[in-house]
Amino acid sequence: MSGCRLVRTAKEIGNPRGIFVPTMGALHEGHASLIRRAAALRDADVAAGEPRRAVIVSVFVNRTQFNDPADFNRYPKTLESDLLICQSAGADCVYAPDQDDVYPPGLLVPVPPLPAAAAGPGLEDALRPGHFAGVCQVVNRLFVLVKPSAAVFGEKDWQQLTVLEAMTLQQRLPIEIIPGHTIREPDGLAMSSRNRFLSPAERATAPAVFQALAGAGTESTPAAAEAHMQRVLTAAGLQVQYAAVRDAQSLLAVQPGQPARALIACKLGSIRLIDNARWPLMT
Ligand code: PAF
Repeated sequence: MSGCRLVRTAKEIGNPRGIFVPTMGALHEGHASLIRRAAALRDADVAAGEPRRAVIVSVFVNRTQFNDPADFNRYPKTLESDLLICQSAGADCVYAPDQDDVYPPGLLVPVPPLPAAAAGPGLEDALRPGHFAGVCQVVNRLFVLVKPSAAVFGEKDWQQLTVLEAMTLQQRLPIEIIPGHTIREPDGLAMSSRNRFLSPAERATAPAVFQALAGAGTESTPAAAEAHMQRVLTAAGLQVQYAAVRDAQSLLAVQPGQPARALIACKLGSIRLIDNARWPLMT
């Protein structure tokens, strides 16, 4: 990999204060866009005469955030193609550690105090008990190991993004959290590492999630938007876990005049799909 180093241990990373893109690998165009976002920030700094900040991508499937061991075991591992994607998107360094580098035997890696968005909303927090504890634990640990000045997280996992923003603020970490837009297939399906598990028939049904969000975006009340999403998803044969319109930050009830978000989680066969969009949609 010319121009992009692969390292297996944190002490080889060097470059503290870089721009960090944490991932679990199985990279796709959605991740590539997060890496390109980081690379654009790096290049803008350099053009402005600021010090160059390296773009560091981690590839680590974090066991502690999986509440379903089967999901962990089948999580795709595609390091070779991940490296090519990182390189062509402009990363300087890929950190692909083994378990022991992140969780050294004998070292207690703390779970930081969880922000309210990780427990109250009754969305991913309710459906995946322990998930945000695992996410906050590993991201906190990766922040200690990588020592970034900024980190990029995708909007596709909206609740994760709000939880990590709140965690960073709560702990007063000197790290800027940068959101990256969701990248969609031409038919609207949000890109996800798990999409590769959809059968052709399921793949044909999956864009109903985006259609539900798009339709909800033109409804005039949260209740009508929620009913709309429920209708579209059920008609397509999806099993709805939640279809909710919430305050974009707290993920609690919508507040008049404050930004809101429509959020969906549903199951298609054994595959879980999540997605979200601004609500109402601006035309
Ligand atoms: O979004 C993900 O891929 C993971 O939750 C993250 C942030 C890399 C932590 O393992």
